[in-house]
Amino acid sequence: MALGHLLQGGIIRLLGRLPPEEAHRMAMFLLRIVRNMRLLRGVTPDQDDPILAVRLWERDFQSPLGLAAGFDKNAEDVEALLGLGFSFIEVGTVTPRPQSGHARPRLFRLPAEKALINRMGFNNVGLAKVVHRLVERQQRQAQKRKQWGWVGANLGCNSDSQEAIADYVKGVRALAPLVDYLVLNVSSPNTHGLRKMQCRDVLLTLINRIKEEISILNINLKIKIPLLIKISPDLNSHELLDIAEVALTSGLDGLVATNTTIARPLDRCARARGGLSGRPLFPASTAVLADMYNLTQGKVPLIGVGGVLSGADALAKIKAGASLVQVYTAMIYEGPGVVRRIKLELAHLLRSYGYRTVSEAVGTGVKAPCS
Ligand SMILES: Cc1cc2nc3c(=O)[nH]c(=O)nc-3n(C[C@H](O)[C@H](O)[C@H](O)COP(=O)(O)O)c2cc1C
Repeated sequence: MALGHLLQGGIIRLLGRLPPEEAHRMAMFLLRIVRNMRLLRGVTPDQDDPILAVRLWERDFQSPLGLAAGFDKNAEDVEALLGLGFSFIEVGTVTPRPQSGHARPRLFRLPAEKALINRMGFNNVGLAKVVHRLVERQQRQAQKRKQWGWVGANLGCNSDSQEAIADYVKGVRALAPLVDYLVLNVSSPNTHGLRKMQCRDVLLTLINRIKEEISILNINLKIKIPLLIKISPDLNSHELLDIAEVALTSGLDGLVATNTTIARPLDRCARARGGLSGRPLFPASTAVLADMYNLTQGKVPLIGVGGVLSGADALAKIKAGASLVQVYTAMIYEGPGVVRRIKLELAHLLRSYGYRTVSEAVGTGVKAPCS
């Protein structure tokens, strides 16, 4: 265990010296090697502490902790990442056609703040390749007795698309049969005009169109596929109210709060253009989460994401209304050991506050839900 920690610390330090995108690629390569070795030895992920179990959308999550979108954009490492102990991972953002994203450098570390700024711009291999990988995964799963974890797909539109809604429809058609939930990403700050899709009328049109598509697809699916929208932390109170109303009236299955921010809450973060993630994002994203819980009267399931680095952060998201919690930046600064640590800390905190389940804690930090 101590040797494992030392080794992990050494690897993180080494990766920290590489340019961020190369470090990510190298980390994924190492992860795949470790995963294959564990598979050869027949090692499966640990069973989580039962206090962490969450039941949502007719699915049992072993813990509320998942991996946020953007880490495995192309569904290359689903098994390896689930093997780290996440109860779910969100692949994507996937766009119909492949695209290379913005010019490099486009990912910047702010180690003192445990933050990142990225302007990746939906670099991804496109729907066809992601579908191919997920079909292969489904075939492998069919041969196994037990399934570990759930997989969501985060969908976007191509940056040069003239028909944004049609792009989301393509993503839904292709991926709904292959994943456990779908997220429409309308909040990345790095695709010009995308965040305008969060406006009431556009959002309603988008959701209604996608719901139509899903109701056709659901006929052939074993269980209903949940549809979520991922929102920005930079919305004002009117926009939040509009989204809450749309979520309630359109029968949306959930919201992911939040994406990265274009705000720069700390002076030292002001250097690069793009979306800020990690510790400085925590207050704004948690405030939006709590507002959404309040405005939807706790009726719309929420995934809390933004600046979670510890079990206490995860509990704060849950108390602000999250049924599930995701991380991204924590993986860059703390390494894969953060998954186990957050879960251990969260289980300990839930017990020490007298909660018997995660669901008991959901929304308990939000004052009076509006009715
Ligand atoms: C390098 C990078 C790439 C990202 N790519 C995506 C993406 O493709 N789609 C998306 O919805 N969110 C993306 N995100 C946002 C994360 O999913 C998450 O919402 C955000 O980073 C806040 O969580 P964190 O503070 O734990 O990192 C990305 C974040 C980073 C740092």
